[in-house]
This record gives sequence, structure tokens and C-alpha cells, in this order.
Amino acid sequence: MKTIRLEVAKATSFLPEGAIERVGARVHNAQQSLEEATCPGNDFLGWLHLPSSITPEFLAEIKACATTLRANCDTIVVAGIGGSYLGARAVIEALGSQFEWLTNDGSNPVILFAGNNIGEDYLYELCEYLKGRKFGVINISKSGTTTETALAFRLLKKQCEDQRGKDVARQVIVAVTDAKRGAARTTADQEGYTSFVIPDNVGGRFSVLTPVGLLPIACAGFDVDALVQGARDMEAASADDDNIVTQYAVLRNALYEAGKKIEILVNFQPKLHYMNEWWKQLYGESEGKDGKGIFPAAVDFTTDLHSMGQWIQEGERTIFETVVSVETPRHTVLFPHDDENLDGLNFLEGKRVDEVNKMAELGTQLAHVDGGVPNIRVVMPELNEYYLGQLIYFFERACGVSGLLLGVNPFNQPGVEAYKKNMFALLGKPGYEAESEAIKSRL
Ligand code: PA5
Repeated sequence: MKTIRLEVAKATSFLPEGAIERVGARVHNAQQSLEEATCPGNDFLGWLHLPSSITPEFLAEIKACATTLRANCDTIVVAGIGGSYLGARAVIEALGSQFEWLTNDGSNPVILFAGNNIGEDYLYELCEYLKGRKFGVINISKSGTTTETALAFRLLKKQCEDQRGKDVARQVIVAVTDAKRGAARTTADQEGYTSFVIPDNVGGRFSVLTPVGLLPIACAGFDVDALVQGARDMEAASADDDNIVTQYAVLRNALYEAGKKIEILVNFQPKLHYMNEWWKQLYGESEGKDGKGIFPAAVDFTTDLHSMGQWIQEGERTIFETVVSVETPRHTVLFPHDDENLDGLNFLEGKRVDEVNKMAELGTQLAHVDGGVPNIRVVMPELNEYYLGQLIYFFERACGVSGLLLGVNPFNQPGVEAYKKNMFALLGKPGYEAESEAIKSRL
């Protein structure tokens, strides 16, 4: 079995002697407390052995629902925010063509995302785009009460019913939500929508391998069996105390203790942009608490070398980089010849574009290391479902271990409620009268 690889030599060289060993001495306890469910947040460990517990019957249900949606929709809108959307988007964008959907040839539905912002223009333009289209909706919300998603769903439900009739709308609106609680569950039950349950013990940011991620990914036409198999193989490979998951978790904590407070996730493939976004949420929400935590940042190279390159090369030396590198791209494009050679690039003629990209990657690594930036590499043999499954579980488990090494509860997110409380108080939501008065006196 080929696996993703971890390369650490260009990061460990920045650490004082014994740093890895000092953090590493705490790994056994962290791994054991995950396995024995004795760690803080132990009621949210449903993701830990999720890959190995997914049954063929469950995947068949997901695929059957996806087949119905694909057969009846030219466009599928995935409504969800944070953990209820980023994983699906990350996988779909990593695997899909970046342009095919613009000229949709009918073989795959266009997948759009909504419910992840409160932009009035975004929602207006979405509704305009959907006019006349045979669209369906996957409404994803664990709590079933998230404002951004609920707002988009109100608009989408009405438009779908108006355009396609109530009966068809019932077939092409699917809910992924809590088994019993929340508005999304109540609506799904009342309307008779097909629905899937988000397990209680899986937090949003760890939910990509539940129907939250699997259903949209299957709807986009990708192989969820291979995705789950990749995750399963990484689950099996990360049970002991010394493996690439624990090595990454230890190394980033050792770097943090040595003053490297910011981790930048880097890709050299624009298709991985949303994988960066997914990773930022996973690590940001898991570790940023109690006044601690590595700040997770992300860049797309070489694009962002032309914007963030200066800061990374010579700014405050509190950063380290983790590069997700794809060994072999799917397609071949050769550097073209030009008779005039005004740009002086004919010396590259006939080379694969990826060879140029790889030299940019190597050149950047060496420059950044020279500039004092520790560099970790996570190498994927190819960008396919199987290796993405490995990568997802790799980052999830490393996040759990890493948060425990840091000494926080990696599975809660008390901080995200603060803005919601203020927003509802400012909007005068019933039940928020006292908060309303208090907040208005501050303005
Ligand atoms: O990770 C999390 O818990 C959050 O990002 C949630 O996924 C996000 O707030 C959406 O919540 P819900 O699924 O309840 O609508």
C-alpha cells in the first residue's frame, strides 16, 4: 500500500537538542487517552474509529441518494457552514475540474455552496443563477439552527418549490442533521425529505467522513468507497505511538514551544485551496483556546509567493510551513515553444509544467529554510480519493493528538458562540432582551 509521506528534516534542524524527545514523551498518554476515551472532550470522539466502522450498507445508502439527486438535478446547492461544508468543498474542489462546471456538459451536476455567509449580494446572485435550473438542495446543519444556513435554506426551499413544484422539491431536498433536534430535523420530518443523521459524538470539523461530506462528494460523482478506504488505512497506520500522525503532532508542538507560533499550510496546486480552508478550521477551532494555540494560516503557491512571499521570507521569524505536495499530477501539459522567445523561456520547452512547479517548490523550500522558516512536507503520491482519505484522517488524528499535547480540549469550541450572542442581542432576538440592553449601552 502506498501512503502519504511526512518529511521533517528541514524542520527538526531548527529545534534545540532534546525538544522532540521532550514533547514525544507525552505522546503515549495522548494516544492512550484518545483510545480509552479518557481525554477532555471524550464525548466527541466518534471520528476516531469512524472510517473502520463505516459499513458497505451505509455507503450504499449515500450512493443511492446521490444517484437520485444526480438524476433529477442539473445543479445541487450544498447549504452549510464551517464543519458542515468545508470538508465536502475541499474534496470536491481537489478532485473536480476547475472549469468543467462553467460549461456543464450534463455528465455531472454543478455543485454550488451556500449558507456559509450572510452576503446579501451572494444570495441574490445565487437565486438569480438558479432561476430556470433544475436544482436540488442538501441542507447540512448539525444543530439545525445556524443562522447563515437557515437563511439560505429558507430562500432555496421556497425557490425550489416554486420552480419545481412541492412534490419534486420533496425528492430533491435532502437534510443532513441531528437525529432528533433542531429546525432542520423538524422540517425534514414534516416535509418527508430523505435525511441523514450527523452522529452526536462527531463535531462539525471532524465530520467530513459522515454524510456531511460523503453525500455532497458522492453527488459530485466521486468515489466515496476509495475515500473511506484511504481514511481506514490511515486509521490502521496511526494506532501506535510512533507514526507519521504522532510525528507531525509532536513536531508542530516542539516548534510552538520553540517560539514558532504560526503554521502556514502551503499547497502548490490551486485545487487544494479549500483543503487549506478545511485544515484551518480543524486546527484553529481545536487548538485556539485557553490563551494558547498555533495560529493556522494558509497560502496557495506559487500564486501567493507574489503576495505573501516577502513576509514569509523576511518577516517576524515566528512561522513554520507545512507543505502538502502532490507527487504526480493527473494531466500532462508541456512547456510550449515560442519562435520569438521574447520571455527567454524556450530553455524550458518540452518540459512538463509540473517539473517547473516542482523546481519552484524546491527553490521555495530552500529559500525559506535559509530565511529561518522550518519546513515540513506531507507528500501525496497523487490527488485522488484514496490519498485524500488518508490525508483527511492524518490531519484529523494529528489534530486530536496535537491538541492534547498542547494541553487543551481539542474537541470543543466555546469561543464561537460569542459573536452569535452579540449578533442576536443587536438584532433583538426574542429571549435576548437583557443582552440587547447591555450591548446597546456600549454603542
Ligand atoms: O465545527 C463546528 O462545530 C462548526 O464549524 C460548525 O460545523 C458550524 O458552526 C455549523 O454548525 P451546524 O452544523 O450546527 O449548522
